[in-house]
Amino acid sequence: MNRPFRDWRLQRVWIVGASSGIGAALAQALLARGARVALSARRNDELVRLAGTAENALALPLDLGDTAAFSAALDRLERDWGGIDLVVFCAGTWTPMAATRLDADAIARTLAINLQAPMTACAALVPRLLAQGHGAIGFVSSVSGYRGLPQAAAYGASKAGLSHFAETLHLELVPRGISVYLINPGFVATPMTATNAFRMPALITPEEAADEIIAGLARTGFEIHFPRRFTFWLKLLRLLPYRIYFPLARRLTGA
Ligand SMILES: NC(=O)c1ccc[n+]([C@@H]2O[C@H](COP(=O)([O-])OP(=O)(O)OC[C@H]3O[C@@H](n4cnc5c(N)ncnc54)[C@H](OP(=O)(O)O)[C@@H]3O)[C@@H](O)[C@H]2O)c1
Repeated sequence: MNRPFRDWRLQRVWIVGASSGIGAALAQALLARGARVALSARRNDELVRLAGTAENALALPLDLGDTAAFSAALDRLERDWGGIDLVVFCAGTWTPMAATRLDADAIARTLAINLQAPMTACAALVPRLLAQGHGAIGFVSSVSGYRGLPQAAAYGASKAGLSHFAETLHLELVPRGISVYLINPGFVATPMTATNAFRMPALITPEEAADEIIAGLARTGFEIHFPRRFTFWLKLLRLLPYRIYFPLARRLTGA
């Protein structure tokens, strides 16, 4: 079981992918609750603006794809804070991609940032958390990793892979004192989804997403999924045998 976060005061939290959307809203919500928050992403001006004058905020720009930069930031946080209680991997990218128009460059970019980068970062992070004897990791994945969906050829595969990685970490790290959370949002109105041309059922705000994540981190469960009025149906679809799932998914999505 994960160790729940109930009192955020002075908790040391690092959010990677904090310059906009869900990560930015989560950073602000945790700062308001008294946590110390390091905000990372590539756009430093956004991080500095979000950190504002909050004494407990630290803008720590980096590209998650740069392994050396991640390790250097980890060193700095350990030096400045004396340890880390929670790291949330929120960085991600989404390119709609139909199976009839697979794009090799976009596939490489999507897998690199959504899957390979958090895995590689964990190769540096996990030994530090094990050495400190406690800590938690949250992976912002997606309900699109549950099953194959139209337009999600690269994105869905990257998120399915990330969720699988999180499961493995949870199995092996929880008995060693490290909590691992899998965060599966439905549709959230952020810059990432702003150009989606299709209808997004049960769309929520980034602030609502942040509240759901904080509520989930206060529980002991592995998966934090929301909004439930949407994820309930996706979880049902996940249980269906392929011979029922494929025709139903085609009908529901117009694929
Ligand atoms: N919005 C949704 O409906 C939805 C649903 C399910 C899951 N998600 C997931 O939620 C997470 C956040 O997405 P969002 O919707 O909040 O979109 P967003 O506003 O576009 O946020 C993406 C964040 O990732 C950062 N990022 C991208 N590439 C990076 C890199 N190479 N290094 C460091 N940071 C990087 C971006 O910052 P910079 O550009 O400044 O680097 C930004 O802070 C993503 O993992 C996404 O897949 C979103």
